Amino acid sequence: MKIEIKALAEKYGTPLYVYDFDYISNRYTTLKEAFGGKKSLINYAVKANSNLSVIAHLAKLGAGADCVSIGEVKRALSAGIAPYRIIFSGVGKRDDEIHDALHLDILLLNLESEAEMKRVEMMAKELGKKARISIRVNPNIDPQTHPYISTGLHENKFGVEIDMAKRMYIYAKKSESLDPIGIHFHIGSQLTNLTPIRESCAIVADLVRSLKAINIDIKFFDVGGGIGVVYDDEVTITAKEYTGAIFEVTKGLDVTLLCEPGRYMVANAGVFLTKVLYEKVNGSKRFVIIDGAMNDLIRPSLYNAYHKIEAVEVEGTLTPADVVGPVCESGDFLGKDVALPPLEHNDILLVHSTGAYGFTMASNYNTRAKPAEVALEKGEDRLIRRRESYDDQVALELEYLKK
Ligand code: LLP
Repeated sequence: MKIEIKALAEKYGTPLYVYDFDYISNRYTTLKEAFGGKKSLINYAVKANSNLSVIAHLAKLGAGADCVSIGEVKRALSAGIAPYRIIFSGVGKRDDEIHDALHLDILLLNLESEAEMKRVEMMAKELGKKARISIRVNPNIDPQTHPYISTGLHENKFGVEIDMAKRMYIYAKKSESLDPIGIHFHIGSQLTNLTPIRESCAIVADLVRSLKAINIDIKFFDVGGGIGVVYDDEVTITAKEYTGAIFEVTKGLDVTLLCEPGRYMVANAGVFLTKVLYEKVNGSKRFVIIDGAMNDLIRPSLYNAYHKIEAVEVEGTLTPADVVGPVCESGDFLGKDVALPPLEHNDILLVHSTGAYGFTMASNYNTRAKPAEVALEKGEDRLIRRRESYDDQVALELEYLKK
């Protein structure tokens, strides 16, 4: 992809997100093949990158969607994912979201509390529907990842304890408005170690066995998302290792296996292109000031996340520099102590592994327009979201302006 970078920056401007759709196809196929002949559905976690064209690309490959708001459900539907391939999770669903999800007849509403279950039951009854549900179980396993993206411990807000889940299933089974056919867990994101996945999967599989024994027939076993990717030099889980561990602990269970990868599908499909504005030195500290910023890519500021940064087609001795944006926050950096050659106005920097949780976490802070997004597919490039304008940003305010 590197050869085209300058031309892409020229054609579409910067800052810019570029996604390699062929890479996404490859990731999808690799994971799907690792499930072999087993009944399985890959529900792409839309939150990682919710551009309609990205979702549509995965839809064509056969993916379903894992959504965490009704907005994401609508995106998945607009992009061509069938309702019966969509699941809706989230720790707090509003009435209007539950209503729409029931109305749209999606595969599963994934419930995260007893109170939410009662609410769904009531609303399904009003609509004369039987809500297909799964329950998110919190297996109390430490996923060994960043605390902000860890979700599978009791101290996290997600899911319900095993005993509570059991009580909820028994209640749901008796309800005329609930159909408890799925089970779900998701212990965290960027998991590079298989052990916590295997352990939580085993705990949940045991629960399914005990539910089946009392005639509660769980048909969908959802292992969540979280497969880690390489940002730097991490050794992470392969698709085969991942499915192998799942097969091992779900042995004998007649279920369709669901998983919800987000980052795995798209993180390394994406690069972020940004232009150098200036260089400066404060004391002994070198700064490279760019036209991209924390509002475009917040992962470094928020999680201290590492993204490899390199200068495109610039020669010279490498010295360390902090790569910073123009936003009025000291936390506005994309990289610290990055080895870079001497840079000039308009040189291009390439920020790697930015296909997941890049654009979707972007904001308009400092009234900065969100970047454009471009797809590369089979040697062609095309715009999949135009750059925001000032007018786009004020559109929802202007009519209320009193001077
Ligand atoms: N399923 C559920 C229920 C989730 O909560 C998540 C992510 C996923 C699937 C997809 O996880 P993945 O396969 O992408 O790891 N903003 C953070 C990541 C937050 C992830 C939240 N949940 C980041 O930039 O690292």
